[in-house]
Amino acid sequence: MSWQGLLQEYKQFLPVTDVTPDISLLEGNTPLIHLKNLSKRLGIELYGKFEGLNPTGSFKDRGMVVAVAKAKEEGSKSVICASTGNTSASAAAYAARAGMNAIIVIPKGKVALGKLAQAVMYGAEIVEIDGNFDDALSMVRKISKSSPVTLVNSVNPYRLEGQKTAAFEICDTLGSAPDILAIPVGNAGNISAYWKGFKEYNAKKGTGLPKMFGFEAEGAAAIVKNQVIEKPETIATAIRIGNPASWELAVQARDESDGTIDSVTDEEIIHAFKLIAKEEGVFAEPGSCASIAGVMNYAEKGIIEKGSKVVAVLTGNGLKDPQTAIDKLEVKPVSLPNDEAALKEYIESKVKA
Ligand code: F0G
Repeated sequence: MSWQGLLQEYKQFLPVTDVTPDISLLEGNTPLIHLKNLSKRLGIELYGKFEGLNPTGSFKDRGMVVAVAKAKEEGSKSVICASTGNTSASAAAYAARAGMNAIIVIPKGKVALGKLAQAVMYGAEIVEIDGNFDDALSMVRKISKSSPVTLVNSVNPYRLEGQKTAAFEICDTLGSAPDILAIPVGNAGNISAYWKGFKEYNAKKGTGLPKMFGFEAEGAAAIVKNQVIEKPETIATAIRIGNPASWELAVQARDESDGTIDSVTDEEIIHAFKLIAKEEGVFAEPGSCASIAGVMNYAEKGIIEKGSKVVAVLTGNGLKDPQTAIDKLEVKPVSLPNDEAALKEYIESKVKA
C-alpha cells in the first residue's frame, strides 16, 4: 500500500484516536540519502535524512500534522506560533487543510523569502515584529494562555510526538540506529524529539541508540556557552535563536546518549551548504547544513572515528532560501546572443571529452 502519512503509519506510537481528524499531507517517509562523495572524503559512512522533501519543505510537518490535528480535535479554531520561517509555513499549511486560522509572529527582515511566500499563499495572518524569535516566542506563549488560540511551537508536546517519527524511519531504513545522529539545534525541539524516538523504538524493537551530536550556529550558541544570547546572529536564519525553549531536554539527550552539543561558524555552514549541493546533488537550506558542517569538523579532528555510521539531518529545503544561495555562489549565468554558433562554441569549451 502507498504511504498514508504519519497519523496513519505511526498510529500506535502517536496520541491519535479514531476521532482525530486526518489532515495529513502525506508527510514523512523522506529519503535517507547515502552521501557517497563526502563519506569517502571523511572516511565514514554518511547519510543525509532529507527532511526538505516533506510537503512544506521542512521537518516541521511531522510535528505540525499532529499538533494541528489535536488542536482541531479539541475544538480550537485558531493556531498561533512564533517562527524563524519554517514553523510558520508548516502551521499555515496544516491550518489551511484543517479549515483553521493560523496567526504567525516572525522577526522582521530575518525570514527567508520562500518561507514568507509559503505563509502568504497558505493564507496565514502574518505579524512581523521588530524583535527576534525569542521575543516573539515569549509573547505568544503568554498570549496563548489567556486567548482562545492554540500554541503550535515545539513547547506543544504534540510537536515532539510527531517529530520523533523521523528516528523510526532511520532505524527502519538502516536496520538499526546509526552510531551518531548529527542535527542542527535552534529552539532544541528536534534533537529532543529524535532522542525520544530512538529511545521508544529501541524499547519496542531493540534498534539500539545513537550518540546525539547537536550543532548550534556560533552566533546563537546558547547551550554551548551555557548562557542566553540576547542578540543571536547567524546567516542561518532558521536557527537564529538565543534562548532555546527545549534547552533542558536537549541537554538531557546529549548526556543520556553520551553525545555532544557544539557550534559551527557561518563560514563552516556556508562551506557545507555549497559542498553537499555541488558534490552530492542535495540542496538543503543553510540552517540544515550545520549538521554537515559539524560532522566535517569532527571527522577531520578524529572525534568521529573512521568507519562510523553517521546520519546528518537535513532539516529544510534549499529552495526556501534562494537569496542566500545567490549571494554566496560564484557561479553566474553566461549571457550570449540568440545564436547557435556562439552557443555551440561556448558549450564545446565546457564539455569534458
Ligand atoms: N533547521 C531548520 C531548517 C529549522 O527551521 C529549524 C527551526 C531548525 C533546524 C532547528 O530546530 O528549533 O527544533 O532545534 N526552525 C524554527 C522555526 C525555530 O520557527 O521554523 P529546533
